[in-house]
Amino acid sequence: MAKILVAYYSKGGNVKKMAEFVAKGVKEESCEVTVKTVDSVLPDELIHYDGFIFGSPTYYGQMAAPVKKLIDDSVILHGKLEGKVGGAFTSSANIGGGNETTILSILQAFLIHGMLIQGTAKNDHYGPVAIGSPDNRAEKQCIALGKRVAKLVKIILI
Ligand SMILES: Cc1cc2nc3c(=O)[nH]c(=O)nc-3n(C[C@H](O)[C@H](O)[C@H](O)COP(=O)(O)O)c2cc1C
Repeated sequence: MAKILVAYYSKGGNVKKMAEFVAKGVKEESCEVTVKTVDSVLPDELIHYDGFIFGSPTYYGQMAAPVKKLIDDSVILHGKLEGKVGGAFTSSANIGGGNETTILSILQAFLIHGMLIQGTAKNDHYGPVAIGSPDNRAEKQCIALGKRVAKLVKIILI
């Protein structure tokens, strides 16, 4: 069965709620999902997943430091994560508060790992964005991301 990791950092709980919705989407596609905080993920553990979806609050238009730490520590797997599927989501305080650049900062690192990223033509193109706590719209975007990553992983594993 395809294995997907949802790893997040959340100080106030907004991104944690999003992580749970993303995991729901993965499960709806009958994939195995593990939800963890980024500080509890060992970098060499990433090799065991077919895809990973990272969530971070928007901090100055970028991912928060604990998320960047996991990405930097993942250098021990450099070259070994090629072809895995990635995705990202964020919560920010403001609509134009740097949320899309935060998602892109995570996706940029995934691309450097040689990972595959699928956007969407509908709604949150780069990945789900919540303003504060996820509302009904953001919840749907999170579920859609989980499903999108899971579907792509299943195609790749065929
Ligand atoms: C250090 C710091 C930097 C932040 N920078 C931004 C920012 O650049 N733009 C923004 O809209 N919100 C910013 N915020 C607000 C958070 O992104 C927002 O409150 C988010 O919902 C927190 O998610 P959490 O509840 O999962 O911790 C910042 C918050 C902190 C603590």
